[in-house]
Amino acid sequence: MKASELNPHRQPDTPLYMQLYQRYRDAISAGRLRPGERVPSIRTLASELHVARGTVEMAWQMLVSEGYLVTEGAAGTRVSPHMATLPGAAHPGQKPGNTDGLPYQMHQMGNPLPFQPGLPAFDAFPRKIWARLSGQTLRRVEATMMNYPDPAGYAPLREAIATYLGISRGIRCAPEQVFITIGYQGALELLCRTVLRAGDRGWYENPGYFPGREVLQQMGMTLTPVPVDKEGLQVSIGQQMAPDARFAVVTPSHQSPTGVALSLPRRLALLAWANQKDAWIIEDDYDSEFRYHGHPLPALKSLDHEQRVLYTGTFSKVLFPGLRLAYLVVPRALQQTFHEAVNRWPGPGSVLPQAMVAAFMQQGHFARHLRKMRQLYAVRRGYLVEALERMAGSQLHIQPQAGGIQVLALLNQHQCDKTLAAAAQAAGLGIRALSEWDATSHQHNGLLMGFTNFASAPDAQAAVKRLSALWVP
Ligand SMILES: Cc1ncc(COP(=O)(O)O)c(C=O)c1O
Repeated sequence: MKASELNPHRQPDTPLYMQLYQRYRDAISAGRLRPGERVPSIRTLASELHVARGTVEMAWQMLVSEGYLVTEGAAGTRVSPHMATLPGAAHPGQKPGNTDGLPYQMHQMGNPLPFQPGLPAFDAFPRKIWARLSGQTLRRVEATMMNYPDPAGYAPLREAIATYLGISRGIRCAPEQVFITIGYQGALELLCRTVLRAGDRGWYENPGYFPGREVLQQMGMTLTPVPVDKEGLQVSIGQQMAPDARFAVVTPSHQSPTGVALSLPRRLALLAWANQKDAWIIEDDYDSEFRYHGHPLPALKSLDHEQRVLYTGTFSKVLFPGLRLAYLVVPRALQQTFHEAVNRWPGPGSVLPQAMVAAFMQQGHFARHLRKMRQLYAVRRGYLVEALERMAGSQLHIQPQAGGIQVLALLNQHQCDKTLAAAAQAAGLGIRALSEWDATSHQHNGLLMGFTNFASAPDAQAAVKRLSALWVP
């Protein structure tokens, strides 16, 4: 096939290197370029297409880093001989419904990528303590741990969580009200099997945590995207848009992804609406532990005198997401309903990791770890913010956030966040586009960047330099 057939269309919003990358990627995926087939040299193609060599170089780098092309020194560059021509390789940011790639992945897996948001610092996890606890747990496997486990979760872990929530989050609950789940998704699915019914309408923050949105929609819920401003969810707009919604999903401590806190008047208005309508509030308290100025805000649940709040927390941020452990706290009046439901439920899986987390909490390691991580993340956030301000300050506007484990930066109008994030992902950077969190008209244009795994200022600077190479001039 001729190189001119792959000439990028000059679409004003998509940089040329991206157009070139997409054309070659699609041609390889569709089998129009065969495994092992030679592609033109950078110099030849640049001259044939009348584009700068740097443009072709950038597209080639992306195709090589994703495994579409292989370079063979003087022998030139070829389509990877290992490339299955169909169904093709993954496209950055691909969503379900695309038929020309690998299945859509909600979360980035494997080694953490620079900037990958939402992850704790893997290098700072106390592995020695964890290994010791794992040995202790395995040595004392008692009959109760070998028998069928309680589908509500391992009792000592539920006790440790109830104690922790009382002290740190102002939530008074008994261990019987705590249900261990497989991640936040497990908590949502359990809610859909108990208090929610397929077809129920709910308010969902917009922008909002898209994996949660997808899970609820898949379980048959109808979601109304309710806009968020500087005070969090706009309760009055929710009341106008869907006054009879049966539930609302909120991230009151750090709205995901904007990082703002739900103000006290809005908290009270939301609780009043739920009381009046007998609606449920699903509080997703996923990373409230990380706040760098002042104390963590109390949970919305701590104000819930009428028992309308179903509270969820996760160990993904405070320990690590590979554990797949989260929890749900239900009102006392619903305890029985949930216990009955989990009896026909696979439960949270093996008791061993639950027993290790329980021991980690009971022996005081959890509180110490959180204290250390709060200090460490304040420093590492500084590395990223400083590098961004110095090296890319004119391109983006860093949003002030009192906490959380990611930085949100809004982009200038001429930069498209999806295009930039796709290019960044193709270049091995874990940046996500803010518009992915937007369920409506893609009015949000920004980047979400994790900082917890930048171990030093030069680490952050090197990553920002790689990102800066992708800006549209
Ligand atoms: C807003 C929000 N809620 C909940 C979670 C926790 O999800 P899980 O427990 O499935 O890791 C995350 C993790 O990224 C999150 O960002």
